[in-house]
Amino acid sequence: MEYAITSHDLTRAFGKFTAVDRLTLNIRPGEVCGFLGPNGAGKSTAIRMLCGILEPSSGQATVLGYDLLREVEKIKNHIGYMSQKFSLYEDLSVIDNLSFYAGIYSLPRHQRSERIAEMLNLADIADRKNSLVGTLSVGWKQRLALCCAIISRPALVFLDEPTSGVSPTSRRQFFNIIQNLSNQGTTVIVTTHFMDEAERCDRIAFMSDGKLMALDTPDNLKKKYHPRPDGRTGITAPYGPTGKH
Ligand SMILES: Nc1ncnc2c1ncn2[C@@H]1O[C@H](COP(=O)(O)OP(=O)(O)OP(=O)(O)O)[C@@H](O)[C@H]1O
Ligand SMILES: [Mg+2]
Repeated sequence: MEYAITSHDLTRAFGKFTAVDRLTLNIRPGEVCGFLGPNGAGKSTAIRMLCGILEPSSGQATVLGYDLLREVEKIKNHIGYMSQKFSLYEDLSVIDNLSFYAGIYSLPRHQRSERIAEMLNLADIADRKNSLVGTLSVGWKQRLALCCAIISRPALVFLDEPTSGVSPTSRRQFFNIIQNLSNQGTTVIVTTHFMDEAERCDRIAFMSDGKLMALDTPDNLKKKYHPRPDGRTGITAPYGPTGKH
């Protein structure tokens, strides 16, 4: 497969308002692509369409070679998705949450215990495997939620603002996992408001007002948008802090 995602003029309107406006892009397998842009830019809407959760108003896309309009169930079965409100069961233990998702994603029974052990390692959470999730810090929960989303080894994962509300250390650990996945060939689409994370992506898709303004490597974008003396990239400069997080 040449591309993990292809999208051509993918558009979503809500009434008269166009949230995503003719999104055209190709993402290669194994790529980590960061979706960056101010609040309301259309990042989540784009991701929800590509996941098959939200129907496009017009345009076309393929995800893992499946047609977004005709094969949406296949897409849903082959991707992982983690939203900001990660859906963990707080009154279950770490290991019970992993078992639950192994069941939901129909991971073959004989692979489950080995895969759960791998996920405990990946999240560096083996010591807490019997703890109730409700007692964990946000950083732990976030790594666990990612592991639940990838337990069935999806070739592509969508992570929508996975790192808001966690400490810089946890965010770095989380991105280490993302890069680890990418090194094993998993394609990762991740939205972020943080420049340090964006810089760790292979390419950044910069969105504003529903439009894709740029799609390039962090280095090329920095050159293009002329770094400012204070070291900020200038990409976010016109918008300032998002104020949301
Ligand atoms: N279901 C909906 N009905 C109407 N408008 C919507 C709906 N979902 C999103 N929008 C609007 O579409 C625009 C894009 O929203 P979206 O959530 O995709 O932005 P975003 O880039 O993810 O922003 P943030 O950084 O705040 O998460 C916003 O103006 C939002 O209010
Ligand atoms: Mg969003």
